[in-house]
Amino acid sequence: MDFNSFSQNYRELLDKTSIHFLNSLQLANALKEAILYSYTAGGKRIRPLLLLATIYAFNEDVVKGINSGCALEFIHTSSLIHDDLPAMDDDDYRRGKLTNHKVFGEASAILSGDALLVNAFQLISEDKYLTPNQKISLVKNLAICSGANGMIGGQQIDVENENKQIDLDFLMKINAHKTGKLIEFSLVAGAIIANQNEQVISVLKKVSFHIGIAFQIKDDLLDVIGNKEIIGKLTNSDEKNHKITYVSLLGIDKCNKKLTEHYQKSMDLIRSLNINSSFIEEIFKLIIERDN
Ligand code: IPE
Ligand code: IPE
Ligand code: MG
Ligand code: MG
Ligand code: MG
Repeated sequence: MDFNSFSQNYRELLDKTSIHFLNSLQLANALKEAILYSYTAGGKRIRPLLLLATIYAFNEDVVKGINSGCALEFIHTSSLIHDDLPAMDDDDYRRGKLTNHKVFGEASAILSGDALLVNAFQLISEDKYLTPNQKISLVKNLAICSGANGMIGGQQIDVENENKQIDLDFLMKINAHKTGKLIEFSLVAGAIIANQNEQVISVLKKVSFHIGIAFQIKDDLLDVIGNKEIIGKLTNSDEKNHKITYVSLLGIDKCNKKLTEHYQKSMDLIRSLNINSSFIEEIFKLIIERDN
């Protein structure tokens, strides 16, 4: 199978599974509508595809990662809905559409994010391919990567440092958490599902650190030089919010250099494992070359 068929086929399966699950949530139709609005708005699905590509790299059955991949995309989408709220980045467009709170109001946007965050864990617990120990390990790692020591903690230090003059090391700490930790779950979950040992997982965490930083450098660059029709959100959000970014600290040329350095480190590390990493490498390339 080539990478294009891999990503197309599994993207379809991920969407089919998650949309079927979301449609089964029947208590509050307005909430379901708000969740589906953001979830189906056309995200790149990079994190779940990376999770599946990691399983593939260890020659394990990729279907075993579908529920975990959906769970990860649920939490990622929840982070975007909340990130756009007036109390956070106050953005009006996301994935090419008006942001969730602009259409459904702040209460439904907050609750849509909450539901995605919590129901994600249900998807893992109901998985029919994994062992109980694998599920516990996935739930634990997803909670750590998403919570106060992971993405959410990173978002907190991101917002509390608006209007402040932070240095490069601190910016990297913010980004390693707000962006890096969900990417870390992609790789670590793939390894858990493929029964890999702690030594391998610790290399994958280093890989995630570098590709996570590269991901956010690219995001910061696109916020300045991206085309708003293509990125699906308005540009200059960071400047509007007085956020220090890689672009504001380093300028565009040094930013591109740093992007390449972290990408290269992630590639060297993943290759050092001698696994079937070609699809992982394709996704890393996409992360740094993307225009949205
Ligand atoms: C955007 O993530 C938010 C960050 C962590 C920088 P993506 O660029 O993966 O967004 P979607 O899922 O494709 O919309
Ligand atoms: C957000 O970073 C990372 C998240 C955890 C959502 P940004 O605030 O830069 O993401 P965008 O640019 O709005 O997608
Ligand atoms: Mg933000
Ligand atoms: Mg934002
Ligand atoms: Mg951004």
